[in-house]
Amino acid sequence: MTQDSKHGLARGLTNYGDPAFSLYLRRSFAKSMGYSGEMLARPVVGIADSRSGFNNCHRHFPELIEAVKRGVLAAGGLPIEFPTTSLGEVFLSPTSMMFRNLMAMDVEEMVRAQPMDAVVLVGGCDKTVPAQLMGAASANVPAVQLLAGPMMPSSYRGERLGACTDCRRFWAMHRAGKVDAQGIADVEGNLATTAGTCAVMGTASTMAALAETLGMALPGSAAIPAVHADRLRAGEASGRRAVELVKHPIRPSQIITQKSVENAIRVLLAIGGSTNAIVHLTAIAGRVGVKIDLHRLNEVSDSTPVLVDLKPTGQFYMSDLYAAGGVGAVLRELKPLLHLECMTVTGETLGERLAHEEGAWVDRAVVRPLSDPLAKEGGLVALFGSLAPNGAILKRSAADANLFEREGRAVVFTSLDDLAARVDDPALDITPEDFMVLQNAGPKSGYAMPEAGYLPIPQKLARAGVKDMVRISDARMSGTAYGTIVLHVSPEAAIGGPLALVANGDRIRLSVKERKIDLLVPENELAKRKNSWKPPAIPPTRGYAKLYMDHVLQAEDGCDFDFLRPI
Ligand code: FES
Repeated sequence: MTQDSKHGLARGLTNYGDPAFSLYLRRSFAKSMGYSGEMLARPVVGIADSRSGFNNCHRHFPELIEAVKRGVLAAGGLPIEFPTTSLGEVFLSPTSMMFRNLMAMDVEEMVRAQPMDAVVLVGGCDKTVPAQLMGAASANVPAVQLLAGPMMPSSYRGERLGACTDCRRFWAMHRAGKVDAQGIADVEGNLATTAGTCAVMGTASTMAALAETLGMALPGSAAIPAVHADRLRAGEASGRRAVELVKHPIRPSQIITQKSVENAIRVLLAIGGSTNAIVHLTAIAGRVGVKIDLHRLNEVSDSTPVLVDLKPTGQFYMSDLYAAGGVGAVLRELKPLLHLECMTVTGETLGERLAHEEGAWVDRAVVRPLSDPLAKEGGLVALFGSLAPNGAILKRSAADANLFEREGRAVVFTSLDDLAARVDDPALDITPEDFMVLQNAGPKSGYAMPEAGYLPIPQKLARAGVKDMVRISDARMSGTAYGTIVLHVSPEAAIGGPLALVANGDRIRLSVKERKIDLLVPENELAKRKNSWKPPAIPPTRGYAKLYMDHVLQAEDGCDFDFLRPI
């Protein structure tokens, strides 16, 4: 009998050279926590808890985890919670993205090393769900993803406010001199007022929708607000379901497949989801050997309409999507375009799930029918060309279409520090027609690909009323941001990609119609620049920073570590 075929506390025994002794010792120590023999004989459901005092989005997890435990106990299992890394989006330096893979390793190793027959992954804030799904996919223990759920919007002077599209909107008005210091201080206290993840279709909400679409989270659970009683019921149901998965295992590798990943891409496009989700979904899929081809993304994008009217591209909040019918309402509209045979964590296929929901009420103000979409084509496109041979991403649904077909003069910032030092300099030589270019903000830049692609409009232009410009970088963008912003340029500048060779005054051509982004500089001139190019970052010499720098992959490979891919 292999250790993996054993159950409960007998799984994965500590090796003292005497398995019977190991089990006796483990039971003895477990009994010190007051468990009865009857409890210790039950199937064990681990509960991966990613709460932390540095993670506002997870502040309700104690209550949510109690609900999971209730479900596990009621179904005859023994719930045992354990802590993992927590990634609170705005509390991490240089960026939470650097630590997503660390959390994924933590989840994978702790799920595998500790004796659990199934696991409920409790996460929500941007990087936590991809990290948990990456870890679970690699550990391949039956797993249910339980989402934190979104925050509720609040109101301020008669206006609904929610993190974090409104954070950026008000900050842009403050920079443009339209909101004074007192005004912005008042807004600050009203943007994020409940537990839960950002209230719009940002990265966390997108990843929640994708977790449900993949089949890793329970049907209907993605959009339930964090503070709604249904969220607790979803917790209880997730606990119950995890116990059933012990009896009839369905593993992540049976759920996360080429077809379910393509379904997730469809939904990502239909909800106008975050650009970050492409990177995360690529990393999750990569853990089971599925590759996302950015050319295929364009094909899927061209045949997937935008159906959901949520900020940052639309007008509503996640709590409105829940009231409107949730992710199920979107899936039902997309049914003709989906692979319905995909297995889900419930033991039913996606098609079987949707058949139960046929005829459910939908608020058409929030979720449009396939026959009357908000936009005929999907929200994201991949661009290729001499500036981005391996691809770049543009969220066209969040961009100004007037800027899509044009050529512009490059105004280059060589780093984030350079950007911060000069962007508001009144002497900066820049016009609204120029293309702002940020170099050295990619995975190996030393900044670890922060959400800096939303370059601020130079203050003198913002004050003159300029709201959008073409901005190009190898950075990411917050899922709550908007603008004509070309992201994830690959290969990145820090490894000498063409982006590194752009100089002030160069011409760049953008064509969203042709999916092209080209640097209009002769090849001999680029070769000359390449010869004198030097890497910008001093490589770290120790610790996780060194591991990260030595092994992180480019955006088209999900920025996973090379050694975490399946062999
Ligand atoms: Fe946690 Fe936005 S800060 S989801």
